[in-house]
Amino acid sequence: MKSISEVVVRPARNVRGSVSLPGDKSISHRYAMLAGVAEGRSRLENYSTGADCASTLSCLRALGVVWERKDVANNLIEVQGSGPSLTAAGEPLNCGNSGSTIRMLSGIVAAQEFSTEMGGDESLSRRPMERVITPLTAMGAKIESQNGRPPLRISGARLKAIDYKMPVASAQVKTCLLFAGLLAEGETRIEEPLRTRDHGEVALRAFGAQVERKGNEVRIRGGQRLRGIEARVPGDLSSAAFFLCAAALFPNSQLTIPALLMNPTRARLLDILMQMGLRISVTQLEEAHGELAGALQVEGGRLKGATIAGADVAALIDEIPVLAAIAPYTATGFEVRDAGELRVKESDRIASIVTNLRAMGAEVEELEDGLKIPGGQKLHGAEIDSFGDHRIAMAFAVAALRAEGETTIHHADAAVISLPGFFGALESLSQR
Ligand code: S3P
Repeated sequence: MKSISEVVVRPARNVRGSVSLPGDKSISHRYAMLAGVAEGRSRLENYSTGADCASTLSCLRALGVVWERKDVANNLIEVQGSGPSLTAAGEPLNCGNSGSTIRMLSGIVAAQEFSTEMGGDESLSRRPMERVITPLTAMGAKIESQNGRPPLRISGARLKAIDYKMPVASAQVKTCLLFAGLLAEGETRIEEPLRTRDHGEVALRAFGAQVERKGNEVRIRGGQRLRGIEARVPGDLSSAAFFLCAAALFPNSQLTIPALLMNPTRARLLDILMQMGLRISVTQLEEAHGELAGALQVEGGRLKGATIAGADVAALIDEIPVLAAIAPYTATGFEVRDAGELRVKESDRIASIVTNLRAMGAEVEELEDGLKIPGGQKLHGAEIDSFGDHRIAMAFAVAALRAEGETTIHHADAAVISLPGFFGALESLSQR
């Protein structure tokens, strides 16, 4: 993303209040795509307000899917399913900044009888796509790229099922292949190296498909028909991470978050924050369409450090930036290993974190696959660059709350990618 926006964040004394989050980004993308290829109408309430999920909707419209925003206050989207056959888009699909859109939708367009071009902004044009190109090509699609990066030109085909061992732990890739497998002939089997978020499997079941899981393996039979659903998307847990980490900075903080996603493949964040000293209780647990949601009550405490490596990296991939941003304030510091994937996100997140922490006066060691950040540090306000990355913009706004002096976040409007209104919400929770 290119922008010239700036936001100034002043230090706070405490964080208190309640924040409701728009629907989870991962679930919103999947519901919209499946609603598009289902039969009948879907009503998706509390659909993510992020620009990424709007990119998915606009790509679907270009592919002939009819949808409408029904009730802006409730973020209600109504989709008329097209069934499994979509219509060729008249022009290249613009996926904006959204890796989820280009990767997951490529599984659907690869199974169509036409060609589709897909691209996006500068950051998206640097994201690796061979991870979807290789298996989709093995299924029968023809895909041209720019050295494994977008834009892609996907010539769709009658896909054949695949038996595929994924080399990279990626829920986007797994979901892409499940979507392609749904539209292919035969049974597709996907094995992931580590358990990643299971919203693809859960959403497919919600729309009526059978998906089998055994250990790290998922299977889907091609040719199953989907039917539309009525659903309310639970609040986005990765967006909540910014407010939870803000609360973690102050021993007397108090925060409540209603109707937040509690899917176990995403909730590792809550375990880690509790280990770090945050007191969290969950009430009003409810399940709908296979997804759990609950109300969170959070109280601050003494902030300890943590180590994140191995399977935890996949479980916390989107939350590591904000955990790292508060790490210098912890008593014992923070270490991240096995997280080379962070280098190919919306920005090179390891480099973005290191640059910004150093700008705030922190000591930090950059590793090829992670970071080492000593605890017990005092930071000062600084000029921060989001590098056009929404999670970096928000992570350093949180770090700024406990720094000495003001912090300016440059290219702050990157936050609209997942959470428009973030800075206003953080400000209204901050006590001075
Ligand atoms: C996502 C998976 C993760 C994550 C992204 C959303 C998803 O990406 O970083 O924000 O919805 O499946 P990878 O699959 O590249 O790890």
